[in-house]
Amino acid sequence: MKIKTKDLLTLGELDKKEIVELVERGIKLKKDLKNGINRPFLKNKSLAMIFQKPSTRTRVSFETGIFQLGGYALNLSVSDLQLSRGETIQDTARTLSRYVDAIMARVYDHETIEILAQNSDVPVINGLSDTFHPCQTLADIMTIKEKKKKFSNLKIAWIGDGNNVCNSMIYGCSKLQMNISIATPKGHEPDSRVVKQSKKFSSIELTNNPITASKDADIIMTDTFVSIHHKNSKRLKKFFPRFQVNSSLMKNAKENAIFMHCLPAKREQEVTSDVIDGSQSVVWDQAENRLHVQKALLISLIPL
Ligand code: CP
Ligand code: NVA
Repeated sequence: MKIKTKDLLTLGELDKKEIVELVERGIKLKKDLKNGINRPFLKNKSLAMIFQKPSTRTRVSFETGIFQLGGYALNLSVSDLQLSRGETIQDTARTLSRYVDAIMARVYDHETIEILAQNSDVPVINGLSDTFHPCQTLADIMTIKEKKKKFSNLKIAWIGDGNNVCNSMIYGCSKLQMNISIATPKGHEPDSRVVKQSKKFSSIELTNNPITASKDADIIMTDTFVSIHHKNSKRLKKFFPRFQVNSSLMKNAKENAIFMHCLPAKREQEVTSDVIDGSQSVVWDQAENRLHVQKALLISLIPL
């Protein structure tokens, strides 16, 4: 299965059918791997990975994933590259695309990944920018499919910061007709263009009340209150403790609701340990599914 877009930068590029097919393929690859079946779909293909910011899951899941597919990854921190001495993003993209079969980058400014994609002949994948995290949402949708067996008639509640993970979640989950309710402090709402575009696919409610958002939810999702790119140490006060996911907030959701978090978590800030370690939490499945769904993505994007 091939997807129409050359690059994956936001998740807004994919239609419902493409998202569902990627997730189904991720589920199949997961099952195969557990049964000892590991086909070299990307034999000798290479993936350049550029990191402007730290990462545990993104780096290890992409590197392991392409290796399992018969290819290999080059891990390039910015200090290893001439980017650190002023070579432009454009020239870096042109050069790398003469050597490798795909580029995955984790960047600060989202425009950086757009410039990389515009100047690269090979697919570019966003491994998190300040405004989007599409690979995380693909893994989250795969996890929802595994746990809930369906997408429609589900209510997903996002509690906390309307950040990069939230923006991609809105793009992906709205196309699957999930009802979305987002509780943030005033001034920390998700990107208004993303919300506007996504409202044509499903209902999206914005509120400042975590209790309203979590009411009868099937999925409670949160993320750190202080992302890597946030410099303001005072921002925590706007979120904590009102937007914390704790056992009392979880009680507003359905009895069989699941708790999701992209990780890394700041325990006792956005989520209490009893919730993240509790029986409703699926956070380790989410982390694992990055590996499987990104393998599906690499197979779909990299020309053979
Ligand atoms: N969820 C996620 O992207 O984790 P890392 O920052 O560890 O890559
Ligand atoms: N919102 C977080 C996600 C980390 C995976 C950040 O940008 O730091």
